[in-house]
Amino acid sequence: MKKTTATLVEMKARGEKIAALTAYDYVMAAILDEIGIDLILVGDSLGTVFAGYQTTVQVTLEQMLYHTRIVSQHVKNALVVGDMPFMSFQISPDEAVRNAGRFLQEAGAEAVKLEGGEEIAPTVKRIVDAGIPVMGHLGLLPQSVHKFGGYAVRARSSQEAEKLRKDAKILQECGVFSIVLEKIPRQLAREVSESLTIPTVGIGAGPHCDGQILVTHDMLGLFERFRPRFVRRYAELSKQIRQACTAYLQDVKRGKFPSLEESF
Ligand code: KIV
Repeated sequence: MKKTTATLVEMKARGEKIAALTAYDYVMAAILDEIGIDLILVGDSLGTVFAGYQTTVQVTLEQMLYHTRIVSQHVKNALVVGDMPFMSFQISPDEAVRNAGRFLQEAGAEAVKLEGGEEIAPTVKRIVDAGIPVMGHLGLLPQSVHKFGGYAVRARSSQEAEKLRKDAKILQECGVFSIVLEKIPRQLAREVSESLTIPTVGIGAGPHCDGQILVTHDMLGLFERFRPRFVRRYAELSKQIRQACTAYLQDVKRGKFPSLEESF
């Protein structure tokens, strides 16, 4: 069944957890859609786990539109959310609306995600008012890594926790349909989730969020450069790829591939 932003809000109301993952290409998008994942995020995490950049800051709007177009073309049931990259929504609300619109019009996304709270509230409201569903993102904001100086757990101090509570309320008032909570203490995530009518989707935010999201390359063991504590590895695909490709390399070198059955 086709999932919409309304479906996710209804899921929260009836206590059904939302399962979300990232995808950047056709193969992954088709598999995730086939298994019934609720939401596919074309995340700017592609900058690190797909392109191998050090941060997501280098990811451009054109790159995000390219990957979002590929994913959305092959998804029938999951809700497809395109991640607005650094500098695609900060300059002015007008530019942000124009860029958000490109995700829907040119790339086939059904919603966009923006990192930030009160500071970007007028922009979020303008995008929502233009008829574009928005997913918020609070807590650890990878696009602001240079401002915060790293990827440590956020909102541990009472001051920062209070700001996050306020930001979540403001985003809900602006009309976002859901909020990603990244790398914050689980009790705060619980409190925020219980205080909102829209669903929270956690990553490193504990079990009490209304849903969970992981970067697919992390949980499949495809990306090995670092491994956050909150990632559960469901497979070790890099190891398997290494083994399989080594076997092929050796077969070719030894003249064992192709066999007669694999020849004409
Ligand atoms: O870019 C991304 O994949 C994300 C998730 C970590 C939520 O923002």
